[in-house]
Amino acid sequence: MATIVEAPAPAERHSIGLSMKRKEDPRFIQGRGRYLDDIVIPHTLHLALVHSPYPHARIVKIDKTAALALPGVKAVITGEDLVAANLGWIPTFHGYDKQMVLAVGKALFQYQEVAGVIATSREIAHDAAELVEVEYEPLDVVVDPFEARKDETIIRDDRENKTNHIYHWEVGKREETDAALAASDVHINERIEFQRCHPAPLEPCGILADMDRGTGRLTMYLTSQAPHAHRTVVSLVTGIPEDKIRIVSPDIGGGFGNKVPVYPGYVVATAASVILGVPVKWVETRTENLTTTGFARDYHMNVEIGATKDGQITALKVVTVADHGAFDAAADPTKYPAGMFGVVTGSYDFPLAFTELDAYFTNKAPGGVAYRCSFRVTEASYAIERGMDMLAQRLGMDPAELRLKNFVKKAQFPYASPLGFVYDSGDYHLTLEKALARIGYAELRKEQAEKRARGEYMGIGISTFTEVVGAGPSKLFDIMGIKMFDSAEIRIHPTGSGIVRTGARHQGQGHETTWAQIVAEELGLDAQNILVEEGDTDTAPYGLGTYASRSTPVAGGAISLAARKIREKAKKIAAHLLEAAEDDVEWTDYKFALSGVPGKTVTMQEVAFAAYTNPPPGMEPGLEATFYYDPPNMTFPHGAYIAVVDVDAETGETKVRRFLAIDDCGTVINPMIVEGQIHGGLTEGFAIAFMQEIRFDEGGNHLNTNFTEYLVPTSLETPHWETGNTVTPSPHHPIGAKGVGESPNVGSPAAFVNAVVDALSPLGVKHIEMPMTRAKVWHAIADARA
Ligand code: CDP
Repeated sequence: MATIVEAPAPAERHSIGLSMKRKEDPRFIQGRGRYLDDIVIPHTLHLALVHSPYPHARIVKIDKTAALALPGVKAVITGEDLVAANLGWIPTFHGYDKQMVLAVGKALFQYQEVAGVIATSREIAHDAAELVEVEYEPLDVVVDPFEARKDETIIRDDRENKTNHIYHWEVGKREETDAALAASDVHINERIEFQRCHPAPLEPCGILADMDRGTGRLTMYLTSQAPHAHRTVVSLVTGIPEDKIRIVSPDIGGGFGNKVPVYPGYVVATAASVILGVPVKWVETRTENLTTTGFARDYHMNVEIGATKDGQITALKVVTVADHGAFDAAADPTKYPAGMFGVVTGSYDFPLAFTELDAYFTNKAPGGVAYRCSFRVTEASYAIERGMDMLAQRLGMDPAELRLKNFVKKAQFPYASPLGFVYDSGDYHLTLEKALARIGYAELRKEQAEKRARGEYMGIGISTFTEVVGAGPSKLFDIMGIKMFDSAEIRIHPTGSGIVRTGARHQGQGHETTWAQIVAEELGLDAQNILVEEGDTDTAPYGLGTYASRSTPVAGGAISLAARKIREKAKKIAAHLLEAAEDDVEWTDYKFALSGVPGKTVTMQEVAFAAYTNPPPGMEPGLEATFYYDPPNMTFPHGAYIAVVDVDAETGETKVRRFLAIDDCGTVINPMIVEGQIHGGLTEGFAIAFMQEIRFDEGGNHLNTNFTEYLVPTSLETPHWETGNTVTPSPHHPIGAKGVGESPNVGSPAAFVNAVVDALSPLGVKHIEMPMTRAKVWHAIADARA
């Protein structure tokens, strides 16, 4: 049964324990810091890349002479050199496409990597990169996916199929949905864009590749969100056996999906180290990060919703054109070409739904990474949450009332959506009602009416999103064929401290703290004495890494189940120490107790010591376990977000006066970490809604190549976040936890846009595309007034 657990009062907020039973040091947060730049190896050479100034051009000639003449330059590598070494192309995630490492024959987007220079210092390498002379012959450029689909200019002439069309994907009942839409009293049919944006992590991508010719081992210190998967890819592409490859993912200043793919800089640095037998380092510049590494979104969606006059939804149809750039490097698992976009029915009980998507190549950087998102969940959530508000506006109905009327009901879980997912649990009515009460919705609507009467523009925007996180059941999810499970290995030392290693790899999400808490909770040990180690393929068990809020649903489950394996063995040792039969021993209040004999107890610490000093006769000594967890389903966190804005109709400036986020991620492991995740994700959602867009001009020139053009919010712009939660545990997850990291980024953009449109609705404004810059809002007002 789902229960509401109020977020604890601030003074208690930092407590430890899944159930909040175990009270420990309230300041407990673990973490160390060892970043790529902290790893220094003598005689390291440095790589700098040469980039194409043209978005689409034939490469006529590359002249290395001047660059090689610069003192300190050791090598200049071109695409043809890599082709000769069988490293010209690398596979993309789902294996349907391949990607050039360095441009061969043609450059396909502006800033594409064309050559690499290896030199004794980073500065010399960058100077020499400017001396590599490349002769280009410019070609026609296609930047718009709607133009790309005409196939007038073919971008990828390396492919057998001479078309810019990458794939078509569809799910749901097309004919029935069309018929229901046609028969509906009310039918909205609107185009909604999710602009191209970029995760822009604080620390860019980088590698220190170290081929040791003595041992034959290649060590790669790599800013990787998925070190094991990267090791397997390196082995498959190079033929180097996996035991000869070690990937160490150091502490990373943010990933957000940007550090999942394999980038040309990694491959060139590694190839150079293997060939030269010395360490080679590459750290990208901010411009390289923004222009060449995985972008996000770029979905052009058409949303149709049918409803009765009184607001009962009847059908949903979403048709999407996706811009994937020059290579199909979208971060989508093999069996889900459009990722988890199928969650587009959101929190609503649509009797019928259909969605289809066509993806196209354009002369832009490749990507489509899951930027704090489970493979297109953000686009889906934005489409449905904007769509529901458009419907409410058409019906003249309160958007909260429309949502409450159409939510999937608590009794319907597990809920089979018309697009194929089975939602594990949720209580949407409760979450929205709590949010409405907390923010004082009725009073805000009253205030809005008074302001409207005075000609002031105040808006209230709601987003009640549902997500799908925790890829995944291995029968459904794989990346390049590698099944998406995860793993944990726990060792308890004789004195009752321990170490836990997992196949996940955090980039600042605080696994050192939360994993230790899970072990502590399961085994009754002190969380502060549980060391968490991730990111070294030599020591961690195999796993698929950290992105798409999968760590808690998958690795978190593995940790819990590995700990329970330890507890099973510990029970036998406890029985031995208590001189009792195992059946007479029970685990209660974080100890083993002899049933019916008060005070006869054994702690896990005592058991741990006995496991090494006095195990039962015939028992294998030691106390450790490994668990590979393949979840039976994904988890479906949800939330109710409400934004309150004031728009200045003269300047177009929007002030976010309040923002309340009520999240439900099932059992909360650490309230402070969850709150931190929500704050960070809301700030990113705010930036996407108001500031950020990767833009190109008609000629394919990239217009946001640095942080003066691609804006990142500081504490000055960022609104104050109010948070709260409800708890609907996942029925299948060992501790009932769902993922949370991406929820605020997924759920918040629609709340902001709904609020601004709500503010301007008296003028007749129906939609504003993101980012809602001052100029865009001003124009929307001016157009509406005209
Ligand atoms: O995969 P990633 O770590 O990015 O996402 P996550 O599983 O949503 O977890 C983000 C952080 O929040 C981790 O430290 C989790 O353990 C913590 N968390 C939590 O304390 N309780 C939850 N129900 C979910 C996540």
